[in-house]
Amino acid sequence: MAIPLAETRPLPPFPWLLLGLETSCDESSASVVRWEGPGFCPQVLSLATFSQIAVHAPYGGVVPEIASRHHLETLPCMIQQALKEANLPQEALHAVAVTHRPGLIGALLVGVCTAKSLAYALQIPLVPVHHLEGHLASLFLTPEAGKPLLSTPFPMLFGLISGGHTQLYRLSSSPEHWPIDFLGTHLLCRSRDDAAGEAFDKIGKLLGLPYPGGKWVDQMSSGGNPRAFSLPRPLSQDASTLDFSFSGLKTAVALLVQAFPNSETLKAALPDLCASAQQAILDTLLSKIKLALQQETFHSLAIAGGVSANRSLRNSLRPEAFPMSSLQACFFPPLEYSTDNAAMIAAAGAFRLAQGHFLKVPDLFNLTASSH
Ligand code: KG4
Ligand code: ZN
Repeated sequence: MAIPLAETRPLPPFPWLLLGLETSCDESSASVVRWEGPGFCPQVLSLATFSQIAVHAPYGGVVPEIASRHHLETLPCMIQQALKEANLPQEALHAVAVTHRPGLIGALLVGVCTAKSLAYALQIPLVPVHHLEGHLASLFLTPEAGKPLLSTPFPMLFGLISGGHTQLYRLSSSPEHWPIDFLGTHLLCRSRDDAAGEAFDKIGKLLGLPYPGGKWVDQMSSGGNPRAFSLPRPLSQDASTLDFSFSGLKTAVALLVQAFPNSETLKAALPDLCASAQQAILDTLLSKIKLALQQETFHSLAIAGGVSANRSLRNSLRPEAFPMSSLQACFFPPLEYSTDNAAMIAAAGAFRLAQGHFLKVPDLFNLTASSH
């Protein structure tokens, strides 16, 4: 005898409680977020993240197979911890949001399969979330950060600067009105080769710093002279394109490193090397942001993605730095939500849920993951 499928229950009125899951790379993360509805910032009730950085560090980068296995082992514990921290039973959840693209395919599949099982078992909607939309949603994760952003007029220039992506977007609406395909249709430019975070990481590796290098290059730069070494800023002077390029910079740093007579002299020059490389990356980013602000009217600038944690980047992006533009304010996510986390996925899931972009039984069984 066929067993009937349990149907997905209808959504209740606001507030909604969402569980977010993020496993696209090397962070197994679960979070419970409460959302009062359009016009409000999602409130993070809990966030439990197991970072695999130490696991991958000996290899100098993420090993996809090892990442998937660790997600499988740690994600259920993160979900339990997130529910416990939020002081909620799983039955209290109204929806599950999960990163389904882009990322490491095996790693994504762990999150997607877990989310499908939970959504079916709890009879609640499943919301597939694009990882980059999650980073954008991270800007709204605290009222201090999100409220001023919601009250600044659009359009906003949005820079997604992470380990896998470096792109600029034109955003014309608040989260509940983001068109479903805006990541494709509202894209202004992207990196032609490495992402900015990737450049930080590769340069960190060349300089012998721990993985991932961005944070360490940032820290080492503190005492260094950003003009000590002359490094290229590819495409920066080319006003015909908003695209970025970073691979030439990495090659230039590799040549510099080779010119040092020994590891002692290289070590002594590390602060200057880090500061110079960081400045080259920031100048490249700034030149294109400035060009975009000259070409069109934008009232705000927002930067998200792992590189948005960079202290010099945060310091240099202020409206005063772009006097000829219509910029009123610059926004960054709270530091704890800059790098990959499940709270941003739950928040993006809430915005999509309000638009009706979610899956119910039996369609939720068909959700797949995609690496791009
Ligand atoms: O967004 P994210 O956590 O993962 C991706 O979606 O790629 O970004 C990770 C990237 C890494 O390349 C890391 O080195 C970089 O963000 N990153 C930083 C800093 N903290 C993290 N780059 C520069 N300065 C930082 N403080
Ligand atoms: Zn990310």
